[in-house]
Amino acid sequence: MSIYSRFTGTGSYFPPKIMTNDDIAKFLDTSDEWIVTRTGIKQRHVAEDESCSDMAAEAGKKALEMAGLQSNQLDAIIVATLSPDTIMPSTACRVQYKLGAKTCMAFDIAAACSGFLYGVRVADGMIRSGSAKNILVIGAEHLTACVDWRDRSTCILFGDGAGAAVVSADTAPGIKSIFNYADGEYGELLKQDNLGSQYLKKMINEPAVDHMIQMKGNDVFKIAVRAMADAAQEAADAAGFSSDQIDWMIPHQANLRIIDAAAKRLGLDKEKVIINLTNYGNTSAATIPTALDQAVRDGRIQRGHNVVSAAFGGGLTWGSMAFTF
Ligand code: ACO
Repeated sequence: MSIYSRFTGTGSYFPPKIMTNDDIAKFLDTSDEWIVTRTGIKQRHVAEDESCSDMAAEAGKKALEMAGLQSNQLDAIIVATLSPDTIMPSTACRVQYKLGAKTCMAFDIAAACSGFLYGVRVADGMIRSGSAKNILVIGAEHLTACVDWRDRSTCILFGDGAGAAVVSADTAPGIKSIFNYADGEYGELLKQDNLGSQYLKKMINEPAVDHMIQMKGNDVFKIAVRAMADAAQEAADAAGFSSDQIDWMIPHQANLRIIDAAAKRLGLDKEKVIINLTNYGNTSAATIPTALDQAVRDGRIQRGHNVVSAAFGGGLTWGSMAFTF
């Protein structure tokens, strides 16, 4: 009998502190009007006392609860992040300890905003090969500690938070297609000479530019529009989903204009696109799992619904996935 994988639980966590566009306009030459028009973002959540691994563990707990699993039933924990607490130990090992998931395999994935889709691909492969039954995949970011708050073209984009999903073995296919790509030629367009978010947090008042996220936003935008739309179409085709069979699209939440282009390519109405960018900003690897969890918990996404997801980020990396929830 073939083994497949499906999502059995989801969870998310956002820190309570909110920073609106008007709050940013108090210390930077920008405006709510510019940010909303160019990106669709109105506010973002900002971690104060929480670390990336704290947020990841909270999201993971909720996903385990929904899946009806104890942490010691996990075979692996995969954390996708570009803002790990530290380079070593990995954020996944910190999460494993916080969840009491001794001694399952735990590791981080660095694929920027595409990281959650990379993580699910690895989990799906491990499950299909029979080497694992339950894997916790988390996308978690503490990006407000990694941006240059003097650079109005990037700091306005990002927020903090974590989303998680339990991927479990099943006899029927839940995850139906998944693709991941990278093109290192364009690595310079979006980069951070990283030292770990907990270190950067201490340096927030003495920022060194090469430790912070830097992005040539306009160049990234042009590549992202095409890559996200192509990838979404590829996943839908491979899963055999025609436009009218797609119940929901969960795109990476970087910019409403990029999302609109990807949805248009799939022939989807705006009502079918799950958006959380407006209230949370771009939370990189956390955008897809947090949007998934919110839509599952508020009843929009139900068991049996067909979903297409696509992401694009630093690396450059991109990918897509089609699944039946
Ligand atoms: N407020 C006011 N003006 C601003 C701001 C701001 N916050 N930021 C930039 N500007 C100005 C610029 O200085 C420029 O002024 P100029 O014309 O006088 O030089 C003007 O606005 C236009 O700037 P652009 O950078 O061309 O603006 P654009 O329309 O491209 O929007 C944005 C910028 C929102 C960053 C867009 O390029 C974008 O979304 N890019 C893609 C981001 C993305 O998808 N990243 C990948 C995922 S993220 C990850 O992996 C970590």
